[in-house]
Amino acid sequence: MVAGRFIRQPLVFLFRSMMTAVTLHLAPFRGITHKAYRNAFARHMGHIDVYYAPFISGSGLEKIHPKKLIDLIPLSDNYAPTIPQIISNNADEIILIDNVLYEEGYHHLNWNLGCPFRRIANKKRGCGMLPYPDEIDRILNKVCGSLKTSLSVKTRLGYHRPDEITSVLEVFNRYPIYRIILHSRTGVQLYGGKTDPGKYAECLSISKHPMVYNGDIYNHSQYRKLQARFPGQKEWMLGRGALINPFLALEIRNISLSEKDKKNRLEVFHDELWEYTQACIPGEKKQIGWMKAVWHYLSGVFAGGLEAFVDIKRSDSGKKYQVAVRNVMQGDFANEEQIRAHFLALTK
Ligand SMILES: Cc1cc2nc3c(=O)[nH]c(=O)nc-3n(C[C@H](O)[C@H](O)[C@H](O)COP(=O)(O)O)c2cc1C
Repeated sequence: MVAGRFIRQPLVFLFRSMMTAVTLHLAPFRGITHKAYRNAFARHMGHIDVYYAPFISGSGLEKIHPKKLIDLIPLSDNYAPTIPQIISNNADEIILIDNVLYEEGYHHLNWNLGCPFRRIANKKRGCGMLPYPDEIDRILNKVCGSLKTSLSVKTRLGYHRPDEITSVLEVFNRYPIYRIILHSRTGVQLYGGKTDPGKYAECLSISKHPMVYNGDIYNHSQYRKLQARFPGQKEWMLGRGALINPFLALEIRNISLSEKDKKNRLEVFHDELWEYTQACIPGEKKQIGWMKAVWHYLSGVFAGGLEAFVDIKRSDSGKKYQVAVRNVMQGDFANEEQIRAHFLALTK
């Protein structure tokens, strides 16, 4: 019941942040960080304080189809302390999902104002809301009196321009936002190009709310560089860096494991995910498809990971898939530079 205790008590979160050096959040990834992934990660890698579920969209205004909440309900199935996320530009939709999740035992909701995909952003959702601070204001004005959970937001510098965030932060300052997670890119950059830590620094000076740094923390050295640049920064959201190297949080916390221990953990982490996939996803092709999404990143924890990933990608049966995985697992671990190269290769 770790998750239940954690989510029911946002104050515990605050307390833990004050007691420990840093708070580490694991970013949501649609298609990857579903419940089974979060749980396996928490069980075998750990050292992440809070995990975000991928966004729920189109949950509706009157009744929420149970399928939309399958990743979150029941709360007791979430071994990893999980925060649900919604993407919406409708206050009533946000209130409904908030109230339903509260009844299920959740005490925290994250609002996605960062998703850059055109089909979403062009409908004024995700980062598509950022050019419209008045609409964000209108929504917050309506929801803030009716929410039962505490609300955090996950956002970017803007949709088209990095200065869009300024007026948005001024709006946030007027409301009880619990945390602002900021990925310092614009939406049009998608996941490539450079992040803008300078702009993040400006945002820190404008925001009255606690801020969480997100974006391109691809290895421990990069984390240390950012930590040196922002010595007061206590909360960090790890994304692709942790999907590539699930030991990144341990490294940040200066916990070192033997190679053997790391291999064992990776093996049980993978096997748990594979077993879940086989039990819950119909059809071998789909099951392998699921696992490929994980390996797209995870292969980079091994030296020569991208080449090894080719064999996994080519596997068209469960048997071949398992052979390819065992081969990859026999490889040496990548060093920091190789992990960085894998990260950059994925963002080209
Ligand atoms: C395939 C994919 C799926 C994503 N899904 C979500 C999502 O559901 N919700 C969200 O807030 N961000 C999502 N993101 C963004 C990440 O959570 C994160 O903010 C982003 O990758 C930047 O952090 P990083 O550079 O550390 O990876 C997604 C990114 C990718 C590449």
